[in-house]
Amino acid sequence: MYDGGKILTGLILGVVLLTFPFWYNLGRAAKMPEPELTAKAKQAKYCVEPKSYMKAYHMDLLNKWRDEVVRGGSRIYVGFKAKEYDMSLQNTCLKCHENKKKFCDECHNFADVKPYCWECHLEPKEAKGEK
Ligand code: HEC
Ligand code: HEC
Ligand code: HEC
Repeated sequence: MYDGGKILTGLILGVVLLTFPFWYNLGRAAKMPEPELTAKAKQAKYCVEPKSYMKAYHMDLLNKWRDEVVRGGSRIYVGFKAKEYDMSLQNTCLKCHENKKKFCDECHNFADVKPYCWECHLEPKEAKGEK
C-alpha cells in the first residue's frame, strides 16, 4: 500500500522546495559585490580621489560637487594627484564608469540603496541585454 521510498522522496523534495528561497538567498547574500571597471577606467588607473575614500565617501563628494555647481562657483575640482575634473555626475563619473549597472548598481543593489539621482540625471545608455 504505502511506498516508503516515494513518501521519503516526496518529503525531501518538499523540504527542499519550501526552504529554497532561504538557502538560495543565503548564497547570494554571501556574495560580495564586484564592481567592474571599464577599459577607460582601467586606463585612467585611479579615481577622482583614492579608492578607499571613494568607496566610503563618494556620496559626500557628489553632494559637494552638486552644491558647488548649483551655487555657481567653479566647476573645476582638483582631485587626487592634482588632476582636474569637471564636477559633473553625467559627464565625469559616468563617462569613466559608463557601465553603471555593473559598477554603481552592483554595489547599490547589494547595499539596498536606490539613489534617486536618475529621475533627473541621465543614465548612460548601455547595450541592451547587458545587466
Ligand atoms: C577618469 C576615470 C574615473 C572617473 C572620472 C571617476 N572614476 Fe571612480 N574609479 C576609477 C578607477 C580607475 C577606480 C579604481 C581605483 C583603484 O583601484 O585604485 C575607481 C573607483 C571608484 C569607486 C570604488 C570602487 C570599489 O571597487 O570600491 C567608486 C565608488 C567610484 N570610483 C565612484 C566614482 C564617482 C562617484 C565618480 C564621480 C565623482 C568617479 N568615480 C569618477 C576611475 C574613475
Ligand atoms: C563599492 C561599492 C559602491 C560603488 C562602486 C558605488 N556605490 Fe554609491 N553607494 C554605496 C553604498 C554602500 C551606499 C550607501 C551608503 C550609506 O548609506 O551610507 C552608496 C550610496 C550612494 C549615494 C547616496 C544614496 C542615498 O540615497 O543616500 C549616491 C548618490 C551614490 N552612491 C552614487 C554612486 C554612483 C553614481 C556610483 C557609480 C559611479 C556609485 N555610487 C558606485 C556603494 C557603492
Ligand atoms: C529633481 C531633479 C534632480 C535630482 C533628483 C538630482 N539632481 Fe543633481 N542636479 C539637478 C540640476 C537641475 C542640476 C544643475 C545642473 C547644472 O547647473 O549643470 C544638478 C546638478 C548636479 C551636479 C553638478 C552638475 C552635474 O552636471 O552633475 C551633481 C554632481 C549632482 N547634481 C548630483 C546629484 C546626485 C548625486 C543626485 C542623487 C543623489 C542628484 N543630483 C539628484 C537636478 C537633480
